Amino acid sequence: MALPVVLDVDTGVDDACALLLAAQHPALDLRAVTCVGGNAPLEVVVTNTLTVLDVVGRQDVPVAAGAALPLLEDPVDARHVHGRDGMGDLDWPRSTREPDPRHAVELLRDVLLAAAVTGDPADRVTLVPLAPLTNVALLLRTYPQVAAGLREVVFMGGAAAEGNATASAEFNVFHDPEAAAIVLDACADLGIAVTMYGLDVFYEPRVSRASVQPLLDAAAGDGADLAARLIAFQCDRFGADSATIGDAGAVCAVIEPAGVTRATLPVRVELAGTWSRGRTIVDRRDWSGGLTHDPHGRARSEIDVCLEVDARRYATLWFDTVTGGLG
Ligand code: BDR
Ligand code: CA
Repeated sequence: MALPVVLDVDTGVDDACALLLAAQHPALDLRAVTCVGGNAPLEVVVTNTLTVLDVVGRQDVPVAAGAALPLLEDPVDARHVHGRDGMGDLDWPRSTREPDPRHAVELLRDVLLAAAVTGDPADRVTLVPLAPLTNVALLLRTYPQVAAGLREVVFMGGAAAEGNATASAEFNVFHDPEAAAIVLDACADLGIAVTMYGLDVFYEPRVSRASVQPLLDAAAGDGADLAARLIAFQCDRFGADSATIGDAGAVCAVIEPAGVTRATLPVRVELAGTWSRGRTIVDRRDWSGGLTHDPHGRARSEIDVCLEVDARRYATLWFDTVTGGLG
């Protein structure tokens, strides 16, 4: 049986890569996609998301708009990275489909409660946030009973070692630090397992421009063509001969968990800090030695942090799936 998943996205070039994978891989049952403002403003994110799903014939997947703004911060989009339209300025025909009328939080609630009532553990959903965690924070604070329908949360965000939005903080957490802190605390309180697929592994699975060139030449207007053009956009943008699959790596970690090396570690989100707001503080100390002198104590959120990735394995998984090499 395919694994039920829901993606929460801010599409986003690499969110588009993730959607192409989640919508087409036979091991996944993509039950919904929810949208949040992040890489681009919310209405752009929704259109981009519908466009990607339309290209691969997944109009059956409900897509809902959620939070346009972070809980506290002013929004700062990343169109300088993702293009003016948030998805590589490819001139791809835009979807004219309307999103689901429900708010993202309501769609998430409905999907997760439906999974809970069957009582069948196989129905429990893996939630994969690939964006600022605003929708997920609102969900868990408003409807904590959805925990019964969740298998785990595998999110792209944060890092043990490095930042990108700032020297210290990763974009998704930096964009809405309060939301990320709420999600970590709520998951700890509700007993929801969490995996952090952060910047320590995010950039490593890469696809070369040469490998997508035949698809660019064919210009078939299908999902493989879109995938190739997303890779080519990033290569051009960064003057490189390969591009990361980015958020799609977190979906790979759901499909093939053995492709990442994890450690279960205490994690907090820095909510103050002059230079470090939005940083995930990953505690890699050995607590067995007794760290009672630490005035902060041990973080109550202990999550699986991805520290290494089999980059070739995930790049191949993505490439084979989105170019039709699977199934
Ligand atoms: C994250 O921020 C966005 O730019 C990407 O879509 C990814 O989710 C990386 O920091
Ligand atoms: Ca994203």
